[in-house]
Amino acid sequence: MLRQGVMAALLSLVLVAVSGILSTDTHHLSNSTLHHLTQKLLQNYPRGVRPVQNWTQVTTVYLDLLVHAVLDVDAQNQKLKTSVWYQEIWNDEFLAWNSSMFDGIGEISLPLSAIWAPDIIINEFVDIEKSPDIPYVYVNSSGTIKNNKPIQVVSACSLETYAFPFDTQNCSLTFSSILHTVADVDLAFLRSTEDIKKDKKMFMNDGEWELLSVPSAYHVLYSEAGDFAQIQFHLVIRRRPLAHVVNLLIPSIFLMVVDLGSFYLPPNCRSRITFKTSILVGYTVFKVNMSDEVPRSAGSTPLIGVFFTICMAFLVLSLSKSILLVKFLHTERSNGQDHPLFCFQKTSGTRPQDSALVTRTSLKVTDSPTDVPLSQEHQTQAGFLEETLAQLQSISSCIQALDQAAQQEASWLRMLYRFDKLLFRGYLLVLGGYTVTLCSLWAVWGSLQK
Ligand SMILES: *[C@@H]1O[C@H](CO)[C@@H](O)[C@H](O)[C@H]1NC(C)=O
Ligand SMILES: *[C@@H]1O[C@H](CO)[C@@H](O)[C@H](O)[C@H]1NC(C)=O
Ligand SMILES: *[C@@H]1O[C@H](CO)[C@@H](O)[C@H](O)[C@H]1NC(C)=O
Ligand SMILES: *[C@@H]1O[C@H](CO)[C@@H](O)[C@H](O)[C@H]1NC(C)=O
Ligand SMILES: *[C@@H]1O[C@H](CO)[C@@H](O)[C@H](O)[C@H]1NC(C)=O
Repeated sequence: MLRQGVMAALLSLVLVAVSGILSTDTHHLSNSTLHHLTQKLLQNYPRGVRPVQNWTQVTTVYLDLLVHAVLDVDAQNQKLKTSVWYQEIWNDEFLAWNSSMFDGIGEISLPLSAIWAPDIIINEFVDIEKSPDIPYVYVNSSGTIKNNKPIQVVSACSLETYAFPFDTQNCSLTFSSILHTVADVDLAFLRSTEDIKKDKKMFMNDGEWELLSVPSAYHVLYSEAGDFAQIQFHLVIRRRPLAHVVNLLIPSIFLMVVDLGSFYLPPNCRSRITFKTSILVGYTVFKVNMSDEVPRSAGSTPLIGVFFTICMAFLVLSLSKSILLVKFLHTERSNGQDHPLFCFQKTSGTRPQDSALVTRTSLKVTDSPTDVPLSQEHQTQAGFLEETLAQLQSISSCIQALDQAAQQEASWLRMLYRFDKLLFRGYLLVLGGYTVTLCSLWAVWGSLQK
């Protein structure tokens, strides 16, 4: 009984204490100027209505953009991912107060969800990225609202990879109201366009991409649905090519020079085939490695890829020509002779041997009819002379045929040599063109203002 009484007393004491705390708390709250002001501002605030007293009044939204980082340039999907700081400022006529009536409060933060906000979007926007959600805006006593937010934008952009790795990209971010025409919501720059253009102090300048400038422009889009105000920021960025020069261009140039050197081996040399085949394997390995690094886009192929394919075509042409030549020489000398593996043995040197061999065999063949038994000396002598004449005739025709074959072979060789020379010149021309193009691309890249 006693215990219950104590418990009840304690409970009532606690209740009194809690109610006292609560009452002083509500008293504190009602006494807080900030709370007072917020309540006064938001009590009858029409958050669905554009905040102007006179509906003919245009709400002007001032925009500003700071480029923070270029996160990804996806040429295959034509997408650019950037991180930007975005600021918009507008005036709300319903959110103004007399600061001397509220303890001199000049600026308060209000929840964004409780007030009217312009519906400004980025037109090129293609993907939702994680951006921190900032729920408050700052309002000052004249009703000016500041809304700052960092956003990660994935925007559609026409990316040109033609000049890779010396390419410059120009992507735009267009801000406009999705619904409101220029008669209701207008846009303007917060800073001068010159300042925006040159502002790079926020940019993280360590990545592959370098920010050149951010030119911007205001214009009104006239369409059937109405006239919309637009502000366009162009992000002009350029690639830092050094890594690609070291990883791609210099090895590719080495391969091409070695390939060019292979033309100095005589075309009828068989080790040239081995040599060229190993270069071809090298090219293939290189191309497989390269395909990860070189951006691919449906619209344009990088010039470096085109050059590589042309060089490969030259290599394959010259290789097949060498194979043709060796096969041709092989059938010509199919008399069991060892083929020269030495590259500087002339085919003309082996030719007399060939003809001598053939003559000897043909002599042997024509020798056999002389083995007839002798009957009379005269007859034999006349017969022998006739035999000899026939033999001589056959020898001369045989030699003529051989000569013709040799001539044919020589003309074939000459033609193939000429083809080889032509290929070499074509290759030199392509390589020269490659060098000149790369140098001029580099020069253009360098001439762009820092
Ligand atoms: C409440 O407001 C009155 C008048 O403005 C002031 O005198 C008093 O000190 C305030 N109380 C507290 C707890 O701030
Ligand atoms: C609204 O503004 C226009 C032009 O500024 C003026 O002609 C009109 O009288 C105003 N309307 C009201 C209700 O104040
Ligand atoms: C603000 O309030 C003070 C004091 O109540 C008054 O003197 C002043 O005129 C007011 N200012 C405006 C702009 O209404
Ligand atoms: C509110 O902010 C705007 C823009 O920054 C400024 O022009 C205006 O003077 C400020 N009003 C007051 C009362 O500070
Ligand atoms: C970027 O592209 C826009 C049009 O899309 C063009 O007006 C602007 O001049 C370009 N800027 C540069 C530096 O190329």
